[in-house]
Amino acid sequence: MDSPPRDPYPVYAFVNQKGGCGKTTTAVNLAGALAARGDRVLLIDLDPQAHATLGLGCAPDRPTVIDVLNGDATIADAVVPTPGRITLLPSEPRLAEFEETSGRMIHPEQRLAQALQDAAAAGIVFDHVLVDCSPRADGVLCANALFASTHAFLIVETGAFALQGALRALDVLEEVAENQGRTFELRVVGTMFDRRTKFARELLVALHGRFGAQMFDTVIRSSVRLREAPAHGRPVQELDSTCRAAQDFAALAEEVAHLRAGHVTPAPAPSTPATSASAASDPHALPS
Ligand SMILES: Nc1ncnc2c1ncn2[C@@H]1O[C@H](COP(=O)(O)OP(=O)(O)O)[C@@H](O)[C@H]1O
Ligand SMILES: [Mg+2]
Repeated sequence: MDSPPRDPYPVYAFVNQKGGCGKTTTAVNLAGALAARGDRVLLIDLDPQAHATLGLGCAPDRPTVIDVLNGDATIADAVVPTPGRITLLPSEPRLAEFEETSGRMIHPEQRLAQALQDAAAAGIVFDHVLVDCSPRADGVLCANALFASTHAFLIVETGAFALQGALRALDVLEEVAENQGRTFELRVVGTMFDRRTKFARELLVALHGRFGAQMFDTVIRSSVRLREAPAHGRPVQELDSTCRAAQDFAALAEEVAHLRAGHVTPAPAPSTPATSASAASDPHALPS
């Protein structure tokens, strides 16, 4: 397979090799907040645990994202509408098989990028594509997410050892970027923030000190509403658009919309090498 041309859409991969740090919650509710602004949002569940799929009340029949990666279905075949006007490319436990079967493929890490390119070529428009990743940062699924991405969103729970965890995650991202010979921009989202805790406040200062302008200004506060939303099968904006979690995600969506404003959709060019024009000049880009 030729390298697919890059960046038909702004694509954000939600990463951190730590499980339970808020990747899925942030991806689903940011998708909801972007959609609430009127943007066209594709959420790709790239985790075999399928928490984003389940949390949006979706129990898919085939095809799902693994059929897209295998080349047996297009994105248009597999997507489903969900509450909150999010278009979802669902997952299922069968996706775990891809780690093994992809060993027989050439450039298996480029499958998602190719599928997005095909969707763009078919005239399907999305303003934002969000990819919820599994904690397995060194696997072929995460490699697919990062290869397809213009941005890696590192999700950091503002709890104990968060800075060390974030720096380890950064090492992994830099290694993947180097292996793939390409760049994507890094942005950091702090989450599960409890301002009553001195420790959490100090940690936030430390994160800003380390990541500077790569940190989003918005921090997602700890919220019971966010814990409840998946059981209702909908993003928090749909449950209660006035709650503080909905306000936090609306603010984050505003910042992400500004990121998108900097994204220039390139003209189709089938033999374009795998580089990101926007990342090339960006001071926040990871090295290729
Ligand atoms: N801002 C938040 N406030 C309260 N609970 C949260 C928040 N973000 C995530 N959670 C909860 O933390 C747990 C792990 O979150 P999840 O998004 O599934 O993490 P990951 O996808 O990284 O494994 C879930 O029970 C979720 O409801
Ligand atoms: Mg998850």
